[in-house]
Amino acid sequence: MTGNSKIEESLAGVPADVESKGLEDFNLFDPEVQQCPHAYYAKMQTASGVFETDALGTPLYLVTRYDDVVACAMDPSTFSSRFDAGSMEGNSEYARRAQELYDEEGGYERIGTMLTVDPPEHTRYRRLVSQAFTPKAIAELEPTIRDLAGQLIDQLIAVTADGNPTDFVNGFAVPLPVAVIAKALNVPDNRLADFKRWSDASVAGIGTNISVDERLAADREVIEFQKYFAEQLELRREEPQDDLLTDLLNASIDKDADEGIDSTALEIAEMLSMIQQLLVAGNQTTTHLLGEMLLLLDEHPEEWSRLASDPAYGKDVADEALRLAAPTQGMFRVVTEETQIGSTVLPAGSRVVLLYAAANRDPDMWRNPDDFEPGREGLAKHLGFGKGPHYCVGAGLARLEARVVAEELSKRLATISVTNRSEIRYIPSFVLRGPEQIQVVVTAKKVVPDG
Ligand code: HEM
Repeated sequence: MTGNSKIEESLAGVPADVESKGLEDFNLFDPEVQQCPHAYYAKMQTASGVFETDALGTPLYLVTRYDDVVACAMDPSTFSSRFDAGSMEGNSEYARRAQELYDEEGGYERIGTMLTVDPPEHTRYRRLVSQAFTPKAIAELEPTIRDLAGQLIDQLIAVTADGNPTDFVNGFAVPLPVAVIAKALNVPDNRLADFKRWSDASVAGIGTNISVDERLAADREVIEFQKYFAEQLELRREEPQDDLLTDLLNASIDKDADEGIDSTALEIAEMLSMIQQLLVAGNQTTTHLLGEMLLLLDEHPEEWSRLASDPAYGKDVADEALRLAAPTQGMFRVVTEETQIGSTVLPAGSRVVLLYAAANRDPDMWRNPDDFEPGREGLAKHLGFGKGPHYCVGAGLARLEARVVAEELSKRLATISVTNRSEIRYIPSFVLRGPEQIQVVVTAKKVVPDG
């Protein structure tokens, strides 16, 4: 892509010098690249579509075109999700010290469940979790989400009443999803700070490079998380409650012997892994989506006005923000047998990243791919939640949260202005990328008294 001013315009605050850099400088894990990756992805698309890099010391193939990403995501037997197999095995310094830590502290075995296993094992976990995480259970969270959004908007109004900006990310976009998933898991309000800490520790090092000591410090917090939830599960075994943890304990499959799917109920270590994934996958991703949605609305006052006159438009605004921003920009896969994408041959054992963020702006798929056009044709086909067997378990919940937030912001606020647009920095993780801080000033709509 050459001289695409739309990309440069839509990436608020990012220096527009990507064009001069070229792909030879590209490193997916470079924090500066992660400030502004889209123009790099566009360049990869116009080349072969599959970009080879050795940023991890071994070949890594980035798949960028929409059709290729979909084909790989739909073929789990060639593109396996067992990308973290052996991360705690072997003789690396981290593996050895992590094992010691788990043994000393009484941590539970870290078992791969949904995100990091393949069918048919994966199918078993998905079926069990879907017995607990039903559309009805998600819909029942709507009043909680609306109520939380209302409280957080009140706070935004109060703290910016004197015209001084406040941070939308930490004052709104972080606490909302944390409180929602805590509610879904029935965690008491006084553990919310721990909940956020455990969630952050669980993703430390994903899609970014941190030291062995930093990883072990994060593991210590993960063990704390495991112990808390193991105790909560035991409490529910003795005294069942009407909540997701009890549903997970009760979840079992009766009639899948023919399909080769193990029909036993879940072990504690399996449940802990699934709870950790629900916690982790649901927090930072949704935080980032809410931040990106706000930035896009600030950048497009005409869309903010349309939303204000038609709050139901929030659904399309949320999905278009997901397409453009894709907080989970990509996910790893491992190639099980030699295969070919376009002209690129991928040897067995290669690591691959399915770059959902790139596919979401593929010009062969989307008209004016860099433009913010809520309600655009084919919007539902975006890959912000992935595709195929690993399609996001929490998509319904994340969509609900983003839609309710868009609706409530537009109902309650006359204006919301971003004041630090030129200084916004992104969390430099391609798996969990999003704006670090968004300073805003808001004004409330005037309430017209009844009668
Ligand atoms: C805007 C918010 C969200 C985004 C952008 C997002 C994105 C994604 C993506 C792209 C995948 C596919 C991963 C792959 O291809 O391997 C995924 C999977 C997953 N997501 Fe989400 N997600 C979000 C919210 C949530 C929420 C709220 C939850 C739970 C409450 C959740 C739980 C999961 C889980 C458990 C998986 C693994 C599913 C599997 O491997 O079968 N996500 N998510």
